[in-house]
Amino acid sequence: MKAGFLQFNPQFGKVRENVETAIKLIKSSTAKLLVLPELFNTGYLFLNRKEVEELAEEVPGGETCKKFESLAREKKIFIVGGLAEKDGGKLYNSSFLVGPDGYIGRYRKIHLFNEEKLNFNPGDESPPVFDTKEAKIGIMICFDWFFPETARILALKGADIICHPSNLVLPHAPSAMVTRSLENRVFSITANRIGKEERGGKTLSYIGQSQILDTKGTLLIRGKPDEETLGEAEIDPASARNKRLLEHNDLLKDRRTELYGELLK
Ligand code: ACM
Repeated sequence: MKAGFLQFNPQFGKVRENVETAIKLIKSSTAKLLVLPELFNTGYLFLNRKEVEELAEEVPGGETCKKFESLAREKKIFIVGGLAEKDGGKLYNSSFLVGPDGYIGRYRKIHLFNEEKLNFNPGDESPPVFDTKEAKIGIMICFDWFFPETARILALKGADIICHPSNLVLPHAPSAMVTRSLENRVFSITANRIGKEERGGKTLSYIGQSQILDTKGTLLIRGKPDEETLGEAEIDPASARNKRLLEHNDLLKDRRTELYGELLK
């Protein structure tokens, strides 16, 4: 299966333009699974909750999700992308998954980064794995990388591939994801944005370096810190189901859960 990431520079508030950029990149790709950045249609640097409210959309009923749903049907591909979701009075930093048969599901970010805590509600559902014919697709979003439990739960639920829409600002994330892939024996696709946002006296610089890792943490492709990139690599999702590490070691069976009680406190 060919999988890919889209790395680009979303412009704050310009939903139509950002969606067009993403659609153009997707149309130029031959990958079966494509991952877009976190909040790819709106930009990231919201100054308050009201700004999120104005740009948030329903999932799957909103315009952005519907557009990518029809594109996925037309190209018979899977697309994961991040957007601000509204549901009743709640606002989530979410990602959708759409595929050849339409909308599949969504994930609402559970570990909010810094001021996201002021502007979004944290997701309150466990990170999901979607069992499609081609692969078991797990989703986490950006800062979830800092909490290794997120990737572990996805692996325990059977994910072959972790799709990781991101707006990374901390420098360690691309190398930390090597460990997330290695310690869980899963493929990971981090789709990060590039560029800089300056709004209301605040500045954020995004580090690019979107990447695809195999189940041993080997880097298959990595984007530059500052270039729009469609990055693609050939992967075999089912190979992630083999959790044997060494002759006498199995990744999941060797866990000592009876000694891990503190993890749940
Ligand atoms: C982040 O979670 N967007 C850093």
